[in-house]
Amino acid sequence: MGEYEHRLHELEGEANYFPPPPRHPGGRERLHIQKSSVCSRAYFVVVMAFFHLYIINIIALLLYVHYNTGSGEQDIPLENSASAPRPMPAEHRIPSSASLSPELSFQLPRLEGIRVGHVQRVSLVLDRTHNMRTLSLKPLLFEIPGFLSVEESSVVMQLAQLKGLTHSSLLTAPDSQEEHLTQDQLFSLLDLNQDGLLQREEILSLSHSTDGSWLSSYNLRKIHTGLETNPSGVLSLQEFKRVSGGVLQYSTAGQGLDGHAKVRQRSTHTRLYLGEGTHHLLKSIRNRVTRLTRLPSSLVDLSEPMEVVRYEQGGYSHAHHDSGPTNHDSSCAHTHLVANNSASKQVACRYLTALLHLNSADGGGETSFPVADNRTYEEEVLGDLSQQYCDKGNLKVKPVAGTALLWYNHLSDGNGWVGELDEFSLHGDCLVTRGFKWTGSVWVNIDPEQQRQERYQRLVSWHPDGQSKKPEHGDLHQDL
Ligand SMILES: *[C@@H]1O[C@H](CO)[C@@H](O)[C@H](O)[C@H]1NC(C)=O
Ligand SMILES: *[C@@H]1O[C@H](CO)[C@@H](O)[C@H](O)[C@H]1NC(C)=O
Repeated sequence: MGEYEHRLHELEGEANYFPPPPRHPGGRERLHIQKSSVCSRAYFVVVMAFFHLYIINIIALLLYVHYNTGSGEQDIPLENSASAPRPMPAEHRIPSSASLSPELSFQLPRLEGIRVGHVQRVSLVLDRTHNMRTLSLKPLLFEIPGFLSVEESSVVMQLAQLKGLTHSSLLTAPDSQEEHLTQDQLFSLLDLNQDGLLQREEILSLSHSTDGSWLSSYNLRKIHTGLETNPSGVLSLQEFKRVSGGVLQYSTAGQGLDGHAKVRQRSTHTRLYLGEGTHHLLKSIRNRVTRLTRLPSSLVDLSEPMEVVRYEQGGYSHAHHDSGPTNHDSSCAHTHLVANNSASKQVACRYLTALLHLNSADGGGETSFPVADNRTYEEEVLGDLSQQYCDKGNLKVKPVAGTALLWYNHLSDGNGWVGELDEFSLHGDCLVTRGFKWTGSVWVNIDPEQQRQERYQRLVSWHPDGQSKKPEHGDLHQDL
C-alpha cells in the first residue's frame, strides 16, 4: 500500500515535472523542442511505415509487370533462337493445359460488339495497340487493320509458297490421294513441325484438319495407341512404319468433311502450323489471335493449322459456314478420337475465325457476309449462293493487306460455352477480277460438348513418359 502510494507520488511528481507550466522563455523553448521531437519521432515512424509500404508496393508492381511482360515477350527470345534446338511442344503445353482451371474452361470469354462502328483498342503486340472496329453484330464481326504489317503478310505468303500450294480441287477426291501416299510421305505430312518425330499433338491435329483425310479414324487410333505405348512418347519414322505397317487400310468411306473443300474455285492452298518449331512470325500470329480473342492459350494452341489460300483471277468461294451444327449423328472432327462413338459424320467445330487478308487484290475479291445484320435469314432468298450473293450481300469487305477479320461462327450457349451455329456467319469470297487474292484463316476449334473438349485436352496433354508430371495431371484430373 505504502509502496504503491509512493510510486503514485513519484509518477505524479514526474507528471508534474514533465509538462510544467512554462516559467521562462528559455525553459519553454527547451520543452517545446523536447515535445516536438517526441511528436516528430512518432510522425517519423508513421511516415517510414508508409514509405516502406509504398516501396513494397512499387516492388510488387514491378515484379507483376516483369512477369506479365515476361509472358508477352515470349516471341522475342524465340525469334532470336529460330535456329536453336526446338523445345518439345509437350513441355510447353503442360503449364497451359494444367492452368486451364475448370472456371476458365467453363467460361469462354467473348468479345463485345457494342454497336456497329464501335472502335475499341486491343493490345496484340508489345510496341503498339490496334483498333478493332465492329462491322456487324449478327454475326459478331470485327475488323482489325494492321493485324499484320505488309511485310509480315508477304512473309506468310512466301512461307506458304515454300511449303507448296496444292490445288483445292484435288481435295474433292481425298480417297484417291490417300492411296498414292507412301508411308514416308504420310509421315512427312503428319510431321507438322518437320522435326523428324511425330508428337501426340501432330497425330491428333491431323484428325481435325479439314484436308487431313489421309487417315481413317481406325488407322489414326492404331497410330495413336502405338504412340501411347512407346516409352519416348514420340514416334520416329522407323517406329511410325512399325506401328502403321499393315494397319493402313485406306478406308476413307465416311471420312473427310462434307463440302468444305468443294466451295472454292480456281484456288490453291496450304496449311501452316503455328506451334513450336515453326517460323517465329507464325507463332506470333498464334499469340496475337490468343490475345485478340482472350481465349485460354491451350485452346488456341491445340487448334488446327492456319490455312493459306491463293485465289487466281476468276477465283472465288461459295457462301458457306466455317463451322457446322453438331447433333447426334455428327461429332467434331477434332475430338472425334475422344468421342469414341459411332457418329458417321465429322464436322469442323470452329468457334471463331480469324481471317487474315494477306494482300490487297487488284480487283474484286471482297469477303462478303450476305446476311450480316439482316433481320431474318432465309437461304432461299439469296438464291444461288455461288455468285449472286456477292451483289446482294449486306456487307462486303475489300481485302487490304494485313487486315484481319474476326467473327464467331457460334453463338454463346448462355453459360459461357459454345452454343449453336450462328447462321448469320455465312460468308464467301467474291470473284477476283484482277490479280490474286491471298488469305490466311486461323480457326479455334472448340467442341460444343464441353466434357468432350476437356477429355480431348487431357488426352493431348497426357504424357506416359513424364512420371514427374503425373502429379500435376492427377490434380487436373480431380479438378475436372
Ligand atoms: C470405345 O467404345 C467401345 C464400346 O463402345 C469400348 O469397348 C472401347 O473400350 C472404347 N474405347 C476407348 C478408347 O474408350
Ligand atoms: C433480309 O431481311 C429482309 C427484311 O427483313 C428480308 O425480306 C430478306 O428476305 C432477308 N434476307 C435474307 C437473305 O434472309
